[in-house]
Amino acid sequence: MVEPIGGASTGALVPPDDYFDVIKHICKKYDILLILDEVMTGMGRTGAMYAYEHWNIKADIIALSKGLTSGYFPVGAILTTDEIVDDMMEKGGFAHGHTLAGNPMGCAVALEVYNVIEDEGLVENSAKMGKLLIQGLNKLAKRYSIIGQVRGKGLLTAIEIVKPGTKKDIFPPEMDVNHLIADWAFKDGLILYPRRPINGLRGDHILIAPPLISDKAVIEELLELLDKTLARSMFMLG
Ligand SMILES: Cc1ncc(COP(=O)(O)O)c(C=O)c1O
Repeated sequence: MVEPIGGASTGALVPPDDYFDVIKHICKKYDILLILDEVMTGMGRTGAMYAYEHWNIKADIIALSKGLTSGYFPVGAILTTDEIVDDMMEKGGFAHGHTLAGNPMGCAVALEVYNVIEDEGLVENSAKMGKLLIQGLNKLAKRYSIIGQVRGKGLLTAIEIVKPGTKKDIFPPEMDVNHLIADWAFKDGLILYPRRPINGLRGDHILIAPPLISDKAVIEELLELLDKTLARSMFMLG
């Protein structure tokens, strides 16, 4: 089971080009199903409808949620192959169930989201705006050495936070710097998602994932506000 691009666990970490070749090789060798968690990366978030499309891979099962209903209705789903469905049906069918599973309204919302994504070209927009955003973040990283790394694809991006001038040294965990930065950003009118996934102590980074409908003006405004927040962060923490 793998997230093709890390979401909240690794902060928009994009695997190296040959990563999925190795995964494919291991799955084939040991006859293991490949399950992709696209709960965060799916539905256009990374500039492709599903993030696996960035590589030459085919999953056996894909988990979806979040963007499946644009967050407006609680729906999760799995996509799978005819082969797996046939096998399951032969062995008694999908016997699991939940009180509210297969909710018609939820399914209608999810189907409509597919229509809106297609009609409004949101996958293409995510790829295009994501390029602008990542370019802008890389420019900010050159000016503010508190950014250790810029990561991501499409509109799923993150900046790693490190001690200014060190490239990799982390702030003492008790400072909780990424929350400080997110609080300053909030005061400036920008909502960021501070994360520290390694035992809640390390791996300071901030996820930046604006809506798929963002246009150039929104990305520029986001980068301007982030610029202001980073200047303040360097002054306070540098
Ligand atoms: C990548 C990923 N997978 C799975 C989940 C869990 O999804 P749910 O809250 O629908 O159980 C999350 C939730 O944040 C997630 O980000």
